Amino acid sequence: MKVLNFGSLNIDYVYQLEHFVKKGETISSDALNVSSGGKGLNQSIALCRAGTTVFHAGAIGTDGIFLQNMMKDVGVQTQFITTFENVRTGNAIIQRDKYGENCIILYGGANQAITKEMVDKVLENFSEGDWLVLQNEINENPYIVEQAHEKKMRIILNPAPMNEKILQINLNYIDCIILNEVEAQELTGQKTLEEIYSGLQSKFANKEIILTLGDKGSVYIFNDMLIRQTAYKVQTVDTTAAGDTFVGYYLSGICQGLKIEDALDLASKAAAITVSRKGAALSIPYKEEVMQFEI
Ligand code: RIB
Repeated sequence: MKVLNFGSLNIDYVYQLEHFVKKGETISSDALNVSSGGKGLNQSIALCRAGTTVFHAGAIGTDGIFLQNMMKDVGVQTQFITTFENVRTGNAIIQRDKYGENCIILYGGANQAITKEMVDKVLENFSEGDWLVLQNEINENPYIVEQAHEKKMRIILNPAPMNEKILQINLNYIDCIILNEVEAQELTGQKTLEEIYSGLQSKFANKEIILTLGDKGSVYIFNDMLIRQTAYKVQTVDTTAAGDTFVGYYLSGICQGLKIEDALDLASKAAAITVSRKGAALSIPYKEEVMQFEI
């Protein structure tokens, strides 16, 4: 069984601020850090640091070669990353406030230049039972899902950032969806948690659903089965990539044969560590650190 993550790679420009910039306001930042990010890249790093071999497919421009090198150094299989000569790498402008919360503006760049031919070439290397991990920062997700379903791959979707493009994907072909409360509200059109649960249960019958709820933990739902996981409390330094860490660690736990409860617990601990550090990919812990994590 192999794991393929077809996802974004971004250069993150992180501005440290007292507060998020308001309409019409100009503010100075206390610091600027340029680092590796993108929900796809972060999830591949998390999978890899959790001990699972992951093949990452996606696209960069020549300005993003350092992202591929960084992934390679961590151990991610990067042979399915295309480098375009005339398209710039995707990037994210991240405002991080004094509470460690963030606001993100994305520029898609190479992440939005994926072609069907590239998809076909990558998927030739995968087959029945292999996992496909997707987020919502690249184009051609609907086609990737169609083709992967045809091959009987198992598909895990993290619909982040949530927007109308998610509805172009055939959601019947998704085996597992991992989303946060805001994404779930948008997807179900519901407000309260109880309404969201039933909205998700009817939309994703016979599918695994994992709803992450920040400091309220997470909930696993499969038809009538519901498993709750509490969140580990830490000092919040930077919430960037916490969700990505959760996705990567959860799937790695499942691939390593853990029970759902244990995979959720592992993912929850790993995400807590990420929140306690600055940065995106750089803040994602190694499995040894997660195993030693104590509250
Ligand atoms: O989830 C965090 C990521 O979202 C950042 O690394 C940024 O690139 C955006 O994609």
